Amino acid sequence: MNLVLEVWRQKNSKAQGNFETHNVADISPDMSFLEMFDVLNEDLINEGKEPIAFDHDCREGICGMCSMYINGRPHGPSRGITTCQLHMRSFKDGDTIVVEPWRSGAFPVIKDLVVDRSAFDRIISAGGYISANTGNAQDANSILIGKDIADEAFESAACIGCGACVAACPNGSAMLFTSAKVHQLNVLPQGQPERNARTRNMVEQMDREGFGGCSNIGACEWECPKFISLDNIAALNADYLKASLVKD
Ligand code: SF4
Ligand code: FES
Repeated sequence: MNLVLEVWRQKNSKAQGNFETHNVADISPDMSFLEMFDVLNEDLINEGKEPIAFDHDCREGICGMCSMYINGRPHGPSRGITTCQLHMRSFKDGDTIVVEPWRSGAFPVIKDLVVDRSAFDRIISAGGYISANTGNAQDANSILIGKDIADEAFESAACIGCGACVAACPNGSAMLFTSAKVHQLNVLPQGQPERNARTRNMVEQMDREGFGGCSNIGACEWECPKFISLDNIAALNADYLKASLVKD
């Protein structure tokens, strides 16, 4: 496949960015989107030019690092996958592909396609844990948690912190991420002692980071590679209301 890439280049968060046009040739349809970028970067290095900075780590849909807007969609045109799981067969020979970083005030661009998502880390630090000493790992069969609750917690815990929900939201809201990280603990017995403080602290940290409010548009759920449900947001709203009425 031969493709034309329109890629966002930006030296740092203060610099003004711009699109740069690159032609890539002889791309296999079986390559992943990131492997196609590897080929382009090798060409740029061989030509003595600066390679394009992009985030990646696991390359198997687990770490949430490979965050890019591809043709106007976070993680590209297919639902339920991350950029590293996107294959070039999703495009046609001769296509022009536009690649941009996440666009959100709370995720400043560090360089090219790499954005600073440390705001997510600070939301987790505000309460996304349990502080009870749990000792050694118990045998799973000795923990009396019903399957429906375990499944619900597991579905929320599938969030990989990629930030596509924020990028997709016209308000730049982080409610889907925050609600999943709150709910995965609030639904379990181990999460009950700190439930109210966790809910208040994580929501308030989210607001301090400058994310926008949720107006129930649902783009976050649609673009989430892990199908995190809007039900998490409904649960967080109910939990936050209760938590704001008590002092613990
Ligand atoms: S909720 Fe979905 S889109 Fe948002 S950070 Fe988690 S995995 Fe990514
Ligand atoms: S590189 Fe880890 S999810 Fe894509």
